[in-house]
Amino acid sequence: MKKRVFSGVQPSGALTLGNYLGAIRNFVELQHEADCFFCVVDLHSLTVPQDPVVLKENIKNTARLFVAAGIDPEVSTIFVQSQVPAHAELSWLLECHTYIGELKRMTQFKDKAQKQEVVTTGLLTYPVLMAADILLYNTDLVPVGEDQKQHLEITRDLAVRVNNRFQEEVFKVPEPYIPPRSKGGRIMSLTDPLEKMSKSSPNPKSYIALLDPPEVIKKKIMSAVTDSEAVIRYDEEAKPAISNLLVIYSLCSGQSIEAITEQYASTGYGQFKKDLAELVIETLRPLQEKVKTLSAPGAIERILEAGAEKARAAAAPHLRRFQEKLGLR
Ligand code: AQP
Repeated sequence: MKKRVFSGVQPSGALTLGNYLGAIRNFVELQHEADCFFCVVDLHSLTVPQDPVVLKENIKNTARLFVAAGIDPEVSTIFVQSQVPAHAELSWLLECHTYIGELKRMTQFKDKAQKQEVVTTGLLTYPVLMAADILLYNTDLVPVGEDQKQHLEITRDLAVRVNNRFQEEVFKVPEPYIPPRSKGGRIMSLTDPLEKMSKSSPNPKSYIALLDPPEVIKKKIMSAVTDSEAVIRYDEEAKPAISNLLVIYSLCSGQSIEAITEQYASTGYGQFKKDLAELVIETLRPLQEKVKTLSAPGAIERILEAGAEKARAAAAPHLRRFQEKLGLR
């Protein structure tokens, strides 16, 4: 039996190089060795205000980018969360097993709540919906970036809590698949290397969007903050900006960080950034070409319809089992 993989991406803006290197690239690698479900988690994006017209486009664009990045819809299941009502149903049942205190402790909640004028209940219960997404598919493995680590832990806690309550395995306890920082687990902002690169950042210079044109990518990388030392070496603590650029270089070129540092031992930041810009442009070129072929009317909709059907069928027995345990059926 192949392992079951589940992961999701929010259609909360233009997907970034961080989303790609931290998550989507790993989806592509896993798809031939596991039974993969990749989801556009549109319900999650509603936890902060979204323009409905923009959201609708972002949902389709996120799915197009999955396919353009190399996820084969004939091999993996690609679908939109809101087209599978079981996600919201299971989320409620799990909320009734979640403590408010554990949700209030979530770092992402605290960060995002600070940036909102009003904080919705959805922002607080986001990790429960994420737990539902994962547990609904009897998932073995969840490939995500480092920022989702805490949410994965709560997912595991909930599965164990439910299993303990009923003294049997109602839910499989999933394992996280999180790359270390040096392998893309946390790509940092280009304007503030202490913040992660984020698609909903109000400053577009802080991130590289996967569909940014080459000249924009070049400008953003050339103006990325560095430090005044002008020495290229990897040190997350002392040189977070250069370390971040080194990770991006390494992941786009396949070279080790040591080899890159040696190569640029006698050059300044200027040449390094110029070469890095070219590498990022070339890494994204095939994806940018492929995405154009997916804009034909109905092309992505057909993939998502087929995916939703498969996802609904895969989710149903796991929701039903929990409902039965709770005395609902
Ligand atoms: N900077 C990052 N480095 C590595 N991985 C990242 N991920 C996100 N940012 C980075 C991973 O991408 C996947 C999809 O993330 P998401 O869209 O579900 O939400 P997020 O984690 O909150 O990502 P963003 O881009 O910061 O979105 P907004 O701005 O809407 O909150 C996840 O696996 C995530 O870990």
